Amino acid sequence: MSGSSVQTIAILHPGAMGSALARQLQSPRRRLLCCLDGRSDETRHRAHEAGIVPVSLEKLAAESHIALSVVAPTAAYQIAEDLVAAGFSGLLIEANAIRPQRVHAIAEHLSTTGGKVIDACIMGLPPVSPRSDPTRIYLAGPDHLEEIAALFSESPTLQVTTLGTDIGRASKLKLAHSIVQKAAQALALLGHALVEKDGLSPYLASEAGKWPSPASRPERFPSVANRAWRWGDELRDVADELRQADLPPELAEAAASVFDALSGFKDSQSDGEDTYQALRRSPDVQRHVHR
Ligand SMILES: NC(=O)c1ccc[n+]([C@@H]2O[C@H](COP(=O)([O-])OP(=O)(O)OC[C@H]3O[C@@H](n4cnc5c(N)ncnc54)[C@H](OP(=O)(O)O)[C@@H]3O)[C@@H](O)[C@H]2O)c1
Repeated sequence: MSGSSVQTIAILHPGAMGSALARQLQSPRRRLLCCLDGRSDETRHRAHEAGIVPVSLEKLAAESHIALSVVAPTAAYQIAEDLVAAGFSGLLIEANAIRPQRVHAIAEHLSTTGGKVIDACIMGLPPVSPRSDPTRIYLAGPDHLEEIAALFSESPTLQVTTLGTDIGRASKLKLAHSIVQKAAQALALLGHALVEKDGLSPYLASEAGKWPSPASRPERFPSVANRAWRWGDELRDVADELRQADLPPELAEAAASVFDALSGFKDSQSDGEDTYQALRRSPDVQRHVHR
């Protein structure tokens, strides 16, 4: 992959994240290419500002050793398919927020031209220097893992973690992070929408500011499981209140069903693994949830 002295990297596409990463990869030892066919003026502008050279997809596919895919998740497979159709046979860094299964499908498709995939996920805001909180990049895959880790590690604004050789580990982490972060965002929106007309938003914001994300403290899940038996009904009441305020109740109802599945832990000790097992949809849990 690194046979020639100048390494060519394709940036698909220079969005906010792709162009920021491209800036971090810029070096006299590298040439960055993009294909702007069908892209917006914003993408064209970002490509220009980041010093990414626009070329045809065929030229990009033929000359790039590495391609970095950072687009909207729905476009991920199409981007890979177009790359393969254009003859790309290098290493695709698949950094979109997509399911592991989809990364495997992309890897299989790429293998038809001899191409390989690195499974990647990105956490945090686009990197700009200097910043105290680096953008985190997680990588997994059997091929060229250390080489790609070294590539990103050159930038002090990026923090790179390798997750082993199994494709899917990085994208699975991203999806788990998505439910924790984005579902929490949706819940925060609903909570504030429920109370903003009553002038209660500042109190809710202040209370919420007193505790960190529960996902940062999984060791507390057994204590959560102990109290879950009463939280299902509490959240069904929340759902009714949301419904009455013309707000969507489904998230509260879904959270109630999660706590229902844990209601058996009232007055009993659980360890973390028991708690997870109760959430898995075994026939027993199914009966319990729909009782
Ligand atoms: N921004 C962040 O803070 C952040 C943080 C973590 C991870 N990420 C990851 O980065 C990805 C991109 O985010 P972003 O903030 O860079 O978004 P963005 O600024 O909207 O950039 C997305 C890029 O992909 C192109 N694109 C979108 N849909 C496409 C399609 N159907 N076919 C081909 N190209 C398409 C866009 O081109 P046009 O707009 O020109 O069509 C644009 O150049 C996200 O999905 C996420 O996985 C972003």
